[in-house]
Amino acid sequence: MQSLPSKIVILGTGGTLAGTATEPGDNVGYRAAQIGIAEIVARIPALAGVPIETEQVAQIDSKDMSYAIWRALAKRVAFHLGRDDVAGIVVTHGTDTLEESAYLLQRVLAPGKPVALTAAMRPANALQSDGPQNLVDAVCVARYAGAKGVVAVLAGRIHGAFEVRKLHTYRIDAFGSGDAGPIGVVQEGVLTLWRTWPECAALGLHVLARDTPPRVVTVMSHADADGGIVDALLAHGVDGIVVAGTGNGSLHHALEAALRRAQGEAGVAVLRCSRVACGPVLPTANDVFESAGSLTPAQARVELLLRLSL
Ligand code: SIN
Repeated sequence: MQSLPSKIVILGTGGTLAGTATEPGDNVGYRAAQIGIAEIVARIPALAGVPIETEQVAQIDSKDMSYAIWRALAKRVAFHLGRDDVAGIVVTHGTDTLEESAYLLQRVLAPGKPVALTAAMRPANALQSDGPQNLVDAVCVARYAGAKGVVAVLAGRIHGAFEVRKLHTYRIDAFGSGDAGPIGVVQEGVLTLWRTWPECAALGLHVLARDTPPRVVTVMSHADADGGIVDALLAHGVDGIVVAGTGNGSLHHALEAALRRAQGEAGVAVLRCSRVACGPVLPTANDVFESAGSLTPAQARVELLLRLSL
């Protein structure tokens, strides 16, 4: 008889979850990515009986996330997902670019098994370190029968890869899912689910085949946004521009004119989202630039990068 897959693979990439502060009371002056994933797991008694394998894919402050690391991470996630003995994957990550990595992994792999990203807002030696509980919760989600797709597990909530966003710079409960709300919660190892797991067609790993990705840049509309930045980008070389507009994705007229030139004359792909933290960009009559829906500007940049890589 074939046994059910039970192993959880935890891929470490660094972040505050792996960070340490010189003074345990210092919640902002710490250094991210100091402790290896094997040691982090070994320090958590609640994970002692769980069949876990660890692998260090990167060790960075996630502000420094790169296309090269995304490529390496996606390949390792795909490799372990393909193993018959693996039930699910956990990825430890920094909070700062977690919504980008979650979005990228879901779009590229659309996994049929769970891939739970988790992180921490406080370093490992903080007075109120949230990393260990978040990691235990993420392992619970990765082991949950029927779970699938890329999710983020933070502060007891399970967020879908398409909706997850960092909404607070400091609070431990820093993440949300916008209007959609979380998929569910994990409390004392028990999952309560309100929505379905993330699903989409997988683009496939070949979308990350290029060594050098298309150059996609985000610009923002604001008072006096004169469009000079767009002209500078055109001079510098750019393949795609994500514009974070005001409100429902509206743009300063001068910035809009520059983007029209970029799209119409220089053939640059433009995707429009909002600089507002939550809510969609709804279509209006005579839209010139495609809407990124409810994606955050950072996620919209990943979306455009992937589209231009196809
Ligand atoms: C990071 O994103 O790596 C640092 C910040 C954090 O994890 O909260």
